[in-house]
Amino acid sequence: MRSSIILTITGWDAKIWEERFREQDPGRDVRLWPDQVGNPSEIAYACAWKPPAGWSTHFANLKVIFSLGAGVDHLLGDPTLPDLPIVRIVDADLTQRMTEYVVLHTLIYHRRQRIYDDQQRRRIWHEVNQPNASEVAVGVMGLGVMGGAAAEALARLGFKVAGWSSTPKVLPGLTTYAGPNELKAFLADTEILICLLPHTPATQGILNIRLFRGLKRDGALGGAYLINAGRGALQIDHDILTALDDGALAAATLDVFPQEPLPSRSPFWAHPKVTITPHNAAVSDPRALAGNVLAQIRRFEQGLPLENVVDRQAGY
Ligand code: NDP
Ligand code: OXD
Repeated sequence: MRSSIILTITGWDAKIWEERFREQDPGRDVRLWPDQVGNPSEIAYACAWKPPAGWSTHFANLKVIFSLGAGVDHLLGDPTLPDLPIVRIVDADLTQRMTEYVVLHTLIYHRRQRIYDDQQRRRIWHEVNQPNASEVAVGVMGLGVMGGAAAEALARLGFKVAGWSSTPKVLPGLTTYAGPNELKAFLADTEILICLLPHTPATQGILNIRLFRGLKRDGALGGAYLINAGRGALQIDHDILTALDDGALAAATLDVFPQEPLPSRSPFWAHPKVTITPHNAAVSDPRALAGNVLAQIRRFEQGLPLENVVDRQAGY
């Protein structure tokens, strides 16, 4: 019998994932945590999203752990995690969704849509000065799968795009910066800051008041904007509010938060300069991604190397 899969999923509808896995590989034994675990020694593959701490200690014969999203911080924070390959999602469907999100929210700021929303409510017919995309400096933090694709799409739309990553990169049409030493220059070149970094010890809290105050405020848009679709742990909520109050930020679009769901007491909900989305910038669609994971399992069982294996040391 082929090795079994356990789905350890919280926060999403695990049943739908189970159906998609079964549909795409009917011969495979797929079990749902915590009700269908059966004999845990038969489980070789775990497909996880925000699993409970200590979950993996039940499975002595695990061979590979799959993150059902691009991020792996939901796995790596668990000190009991075994030293096994962790494979993350890299998939055209997920990347396309993130690119749509970034382009949408960049254009909302570039085309002054929030001003027109307000004017519409007040029945005001007034045209605001509209800079050309080529005059607007957009900076993307994180030039990996998500950030790289988003930056490319923004450059195609004509924006002046800069990117910042850990290691130096050469990307057509982009000005690139790398490492802590070049962060200041990157920020000074950025009016709309898009954050697509992973959450690691090095990036935790990076979106803080010092960083916001380094952004370009005298550019074509006359202010600096933040779009964070990376992780909530990257941002200091209090600093975002301070920056919105003192003008370091003109507005912020936040898809992710240190605590999710965002508590109803959060001042972000009613803040006139904040746009909130419920961590759905790029949702993991089981229709697209169950096949992605099953393809990796097939590779593994054929003795081929796994793709998109996480660097445990780097944390992404
Ligand atoms: P990748 O691993 O492909 O890219 C990560 C990028 O961040 C790389 O360019 C890397 O640099 C850079 N980076 C990492 N650490 C640092 C650092 N300390 N300083 C500077 N740059 C750094 O990840 P993805 O693009 O696939 O995904 C990025 C993140 O997006 C995920 O980890 C997840 O948190 C988030 N995400 C959010 C979603 C949502 O719906 N909101 C959906 C999907 C992902 P280098 O290239 O040099 O290694
Ligand atoms: C992801 C996410 O990491 O959805 O894929 O946040």
